[in-house]
Amino acid sequence: MTPVLATPETGIAGDFEMIPMDDRDGFIWFDGKLVPWRDAKIHVLTHGLHYASAVFEGVRAYGGVIFELTRHNERLATSAKLLGFSLPFTTAELDEACQAVLAANGHTDAYVRPIAWRGSEQLGVSAQQTKIHVAIATWEWPSYFAPELREKGIKLTLSKWRRPAPDTAPTAAKAAGLYMICTLSKHAAEAEGWHDALMLDYRGQIAEATGANFFLVKDGVVHTPTPDCFLNGLTRQTVIGLARARGLKVVERAMFPEELATADEIFVTGSAAEVTAIGQIDDYHYPVGPITRLLRDDYEKLVRRMATSAAA
Ligand SMILES: Cc1ncc(COP(=O)(O)O)c(C=O)c1O
Repeated sequence: MTPVLATPETGIAGDFEMIPMDDRDGFIWFDGKLVPWRDAKIHVLTHGLHYASAVFEGVRAYGGVIFELTRHNERLATSAKLLGFSLPFTTAELDEACQAVLAANGHTDAYVRPIAWRGSEQLGVSAQQTKIHVAIATWEWPSYFAPELREKGIKLTLSKWRRPAPDTAPTAAKAAGLYMICTLSKHAAEAEGWHDALMLDYRGQIAEATGANFFLVKDGVVHTPTPDCFLNGLTRQTVIGLARARGLKVVERAMFPEELATADEIFVTGSAAEVTAIGQIDDYHYPVGPITRLLRDDYEKLVRRMATSAAA
């Protein structure tokens, strides 16, 4: 396999060649136990692999403290319920497991990935008898997009894929199956030299990027689409709180692609992406403006403050 290099062109962060995810040192928490990284395996005839009966989380640790850990594990349980299964571990047990694997891997600033899926007892559309498995891994992931892009913002193109209606898929879940169109959108964008794609929803309204929520600033007011058919990101909720704490007006509403022509600033939010400025969407260019910078700094300070106060 040709290694993929991290560069501003690829948008991939870090000065490294990507090490395959199944060939690393360390530990993965697997169904209640820490196992050596390379031994955390599943059978090819696993329901989660064939039918996307899997839900996951993406969380970040700062200074050894996992930001909003309990809310992420609560969302994992909710996502599982939306896919018709219950997790065999409580949220408190999963919180403890996330801390344990972070410590076992010696990570302090890292990404934390819990995942739950249906096993191999049955392999058909019906999967009532399958056992539910849970695994948690951590890895170092300094920034979602190359840091060189911080001052320019990333470049997005509109995807041809649309977020589905809430009566066609469990859109409130962070479910593996919902990422099929994200990967297709991102690959199509990358093939043309963009960093990511902006997705509209089934109505033609602005929805989100392939792994982050969307915000637009116009005349000092922050606007963000109502999350009625895509993930109401925890970072999104945090950033709305930070904006309001700064006295900024935040409007959650239906948003339309025509608004991209007159926006002053655009940014996206996510646990992995944090607050990332958007410099271009197709033919429209945007500066990394004052409100994006303010909220990016406030978010960074908040996650670091939580880490410092937990350590104190
Ligand atoms: C499709 C999608 N939307 C939004 C988000 C942002 O969610 P959060 O802020 O909870 O990480 C993510 C990140 O996980 C995502 O994958």
